[in-house]
Amino acid sequence: MGPPTAPVPDARPPVTLREFRLNDLPFVGAIVAEALHEHYDPSLYGSLSTEWPTGFLVATDSSDVPAGFLLGVNQVLGEARVLMFAVERGHRAQGIGTLLMSTFLERCRARGFRRVTLEVRVSNATAIRFYSRYQFSVVDLLRSYYSDGENGYQMACDLR
Ligand SMILES: CC(C)(COP(=O)(O)OP(=O)(O)OC[C@H]1O[C@@H](n2cnc3c(N)ncnc32)[C@H](O)[C@@H]1OP(=O)(O)O)[C@@H](O)C(=O)NCCC(=O)NCCS
Repeated sequence: MGPPTAPVPDARPPVTLREFRLNDLPFVGAIVAEALHEHYDPSLYGSLSTEWPTGFLVATDSSDVPAGFLLGVNQVLGEARVLMFAVERGHRAQGIGTLLMSTFLERCRARGFRRVTLEVRVSNATAIRFYSRYQFSVVDLLRSYYSDGENGYQMACDLR
């Protein structure tokens, strides 16, 4: 007979979702630089979070450090747009993106939104596959949408 089996601890540290706070800025800026290869004026995050605080979701590790985030905006009546969405490389494929997106879509439904849109690089197969699982589909080709000239897809998901 082998040794008694001990309970296997969950290898993944707990992740918490909360709204964006201004002291998240350095962490969110670093995730954007690494994952999206972009740099935005830090004041952008603060002003967008003020417009729709519950649309800016941050997933934090056990030390309250952001591991990923989803920044949604509401610029069109009845619609949300995912402006930025990224999980820090070392935290990917652990369900954090799923938690962020499913919570965001729930919040959009709760606000009575009909549709959610987003833009994605045509080469970003991982993200396109991820979005397809949420019934996002390509609705437009955006030529030279990105600063390096790459085309984008606009994708949309009907909530009702
Ligand atoms: C797109 C992105 C946000 C997804 O975040 P994520 O935290 O890795 O997402 P999840 O872990 O929920 O899901 C990713 C994959 O891991 C799998 N997965 C989820 N939990 C898992 C687990 N516990 N163990 C193993 N795999 C798991 C999912 O099934 C999914 O599989 P897929 O490759 O078929 O899509 C992330 O890849 C990212 O930041 N990419 C770079 C930035 C980017 O492209 N953003 C979108 C720009 S439009």
